[in-house]
Amino acid sequence: MEKIFYITTPIYYVNDVPHIGSAYTTLAADILSRYVKMKGREVFFATGTDENAPKVAEAAKARGEDPASFCERMAEEFKKAWSGLGISFDAFIRTTEKHHAEVVKYLVQELKEKGWIYEGYYNGWYCIYDETYFREEEVERGLCPNPECQRPLQQVSERGYYFKLSAFEEPLLSFLRESNSVLPDFRQREVLNFVLGGLRDIYITRKKKDWGIPFPGDEKLQVYVWVDALINYLTVAGFLQDEELFTSLWPPDVQFMGKDILVRFHATLWPAMLLALGLPLPNLLFGHGFLTVKGEKMSKSKGNVIHPLSAVEEIIRFSGCERAFAKDALRFYLFRSTPFGADGDFSYEALRACYNADLANNLGNLENRLTTMTDRYLNGEVPPPPENGYSQRAEELLANYQQAMDNLAFHSAIGDALSLLDMANKHLDKTAPWRLFKEGNIQAIRRSLGTAIELLRISAILLQPFLPSASSEILSRLGFSPPLLLKDAKWGAFTRQVEGVKIKKMAPIFPRMEEVIKISAQEKEISMDDFARVDLRVGKIISCKVVEGTEKLYQMEVDLGELGKRRTVAAIAPYYTPGELIGKSVIFVANLAPAKIRGLISEGMILAVDAPNNVIIVTPEKEAPPGSKVR
Ligand code: MSP
Repeated sequence: MEKIFYITTPIYYVNDVPHIGSAYTTLAADILSRYVKMKGREVFFATGTDENAPKVAEAAKARGEDPASFCERMAEEFKKAWSGLGISFDAFIRTTEKHHAEVVKYLVQELKEKGWIYEGYYNGWYCIYDETYFREEEVERGLCPNPECQRPLQQVSERGYYFKLSAFEEPLLSFLRESNSVLPDFRQREVLNFVLGGLRDIYITRKKKDWGIPFPGDEKLQVYVWVDALINYLTVAGFLQDEELFTSLWPPDVQFMGKDILVRFHATLWPAMLLALGLPLPNLLFGHGFLTVKGEKMSKSKGNVIHPLSAVEEIIRFSGCERAFAKDALRFYLFRSTPFGADGDFSYEALRACYNADLANNLGNLENRLTTMTDRYLNGEVPPPPENGYSQRAEELLANYQQAMDNLAFHSAIGDALSLLDMANKHLDKTAPWRLFKEGNIQAIRRSLGTAIELLRISAILLQPFLPSASSEILSRLGFSPPLLLKDAKWGAFTRQVEGVKIKKMAPIFPRMEEVIKISAQEKEISMDDFARVDLRVGKIISCKVVEGTEKLYQMEVDLGELGKRRTVAAIAPYYTPGELIGKSVIFVANLAPAKIRGLISEGMILAVDAPNNVIIVTPEKEAPPGSKVR
């Protein structure tokens, strides 16, 4: 039986809601999972939440919540975010699950029995933010030595247990020296240098504070959260629970994580624990870079934290594209704009530029040109691809793509897929089917469109991991039944064509995004002063019409009494008829900076409820004159 391809993400601390950084790791895993499935292999993609950490208990306390129900609620937030980004995992582990505690206790006991754990005193520091112990000589002025953190540390002086990490230097070095055990290469060198610098035994307990997994044999202590967290990769794979699953999964094929948790944890403590337990080591650890926002570190205090679902909303708001395609656009941008592994930056300006250039123009225009011309000149019938110079070029790009994806070089893989689109657009410009039509040369039109459609078809297959919904839509429009496999990306592989499907011109998948979107810094908590800055007013809708060229957008005029009349654009056409809206009293954000949406100025916003499969306008419970303040 072929091994199931096992992919993991780190499990996320639930002290706060997911942000674009945690989404980045999970999206990478989803991209790989979709690619491996395209190769026809079975995949098991696991993610989850890290809940036993002291900082999680503190966060619950700060909100006056009981940690268990707080974790429950936050774990749901993570699941909601992942589904809102089109991420499809196979397993979600929460470390507060009973079975996980059993696995942790069993394995710690096992390590004790094998002589890898010993009792001792710990005198040093603990960073609750990083959940990391630091030795006296690593610390200056009581501050966390992690340059990203630098917060005040807690001083710890207590009796507990150590794991003999130092005993694993040699076997770790041979694992880490293997090619492709750690990627990118520069990270592999960093990890090697860290281990060559000498490993010290690591303190793996903490004094009991009601939250966490008790340390076997010494109930006054708890298991250090990183030991507990790393074991999740075994628990979720069925260890001590589903022998058959575990045998078909272990070891993980690719483990994703950010650079911050690669060196100390995933590339040393984790493999050392596995070596001590006699379990096979992961095949590959990938430490990706960090995302900044407009060049700055994301932080709550700066108010520049980007929440992935808000980014999707912004894309919908400013392009009018469907939600499924907005999710695609976000992941596409993240992996198109930064070579995977390097540090990257997020900005709405760059997102818009990427969206317009690659999705609206390159991909969208091609799809639009091809469907329109096939409909018009060939009665919607897809001509078969002719054998010409393009077939060889396409095969080369396919080979490059595959090599890039196998090495997790997502950025170059996207580049290969986009080159096919470029070729198709240029081919159309050169062969000009519109001229051929005037000349009545149907054979030449069939050759021209057949070539370009085949290039688009192959590109759409290769883009499936990056644009799952849009690729599927394009392939369906072309008469194929997605998802298609990598072997279908061969020139002329028309096996999955649905018979008799006629191509029709349809609405653009990625309508152009018109204006630079403002960063929607979404702080969880705002002060009364912050709230008072929002000028909410009662408004009366006095006119409403569909924005030309769109199906979802209405342009409305709203009477705000003393503030005059305002124009606004909103994506609510699927939910209300203009008749239902005209004359309605609404709640209006009157001091929102104006934005340009599809060429139209929008001067404020109508509040609406984002209900499941519905959008519901918020109205005052009793009639109030336009312009009345809402507090
Ligand atoms: N709970 C631990 C992991 C335990 S795994 C056994 C943890 N959690 S975390 O929520 O803090 O971080 C999870 C992931 O998000 C890490 O891969 C981290 O690198 C990533 N990111 C956090 N901020 C990030 C950016 N600004 N940019 C990119 N990724 C970032 O660590």
